[in-house]
Amino acid sequence: MGAVQFWEERYASRPQVWSGRANQVLVDLVSGFAPRTALDLGCGEGGDAVWLAQQGWRVTAVDISTTAVERGRAAAADLGVPADRITWVAQDLAEWSPGGTFDLVSAFFLQSPVELPRDEILRRAAGAVAPGGYLLLVTHAAPPPWATALDSHHHDFHTPEEELEALGLHPTEWEALVAETRQRSATGPDGQPAELEDAIVLARRHSSHDAGDTGE
Ligand SMILES: C[S@@+](CC[C@H](N)C(=O)[O-])C[C@H]1O[C@@H](n2cnc3c(N)ncnc32)[C@H](O)[C@@H]1O
Repeated sequence: MGAVQFWEERYASRPQVWSGRANQVLVDLVSGFAPRTALDLGCGEGGDAVWLAQQGWRVTAVDISTTAVERGRAAAADLGVPADRITWVAQDLAEWSPGGTFDLVSAFFLQSPVELPRDEILRRAAGAVAPGGYLLLVTHAAPPPWATALDSHHHDFHTPEEELEALGLHPTEWEALVAETRQRSATGPDGQPAELEDAIVLARRHSSHDAGDTGE
């Protein structure tokens, strides 16, 4: 099954798939950042994009599922987020290029049981981080209990170190601020409680203003 069909069917199968709330790691790590421009990859129903916009960020939110993107747009409107705060894009990231730079590029659980050239997408995303900006990746480090055998078989589960290696961030250009695995309590799609393990990578691209940099 193709990626568009898989994700459209997953979203169409219920009126709401995710909680609508921002991922807690986003709230924990980004709350102190000056809000500028953000790109959210695999935004789903827009919980993170809406939260970022509410903090003052100008957000570009991309997902392969038109249904998910339209739910995000509707949720933002319901919450009174000005329409020009979030640019919603229904596109396959395998074929989409950011076409600019962003002060924050995030990807939360950009994992898929069907084809997803994830490393390629994330390396392109790293290239779209502005000098002084941040790249934030959060992935399931182990399958959630509700994952099907098919999901678990096809998903790639990474340690933070593997994520950094796959990204190939050059140490002279980037500083890894967080590379760790964290446990969290969560509720599954059918209301089942679970303890999940997330791999978290937060990296900052150096800017010309950083200490020791002699650039103009
Ligand atoms: C596990 S969900 C995570 C959604 C959201 N980031 C969150 O944390 O709730 C993965 C998302 O990635 C999207 N996705 C999967 N493959 C994609 C692709 N090739 N291009 C764009 N989005 C994709 C799916 O549609 C889905 O919304």
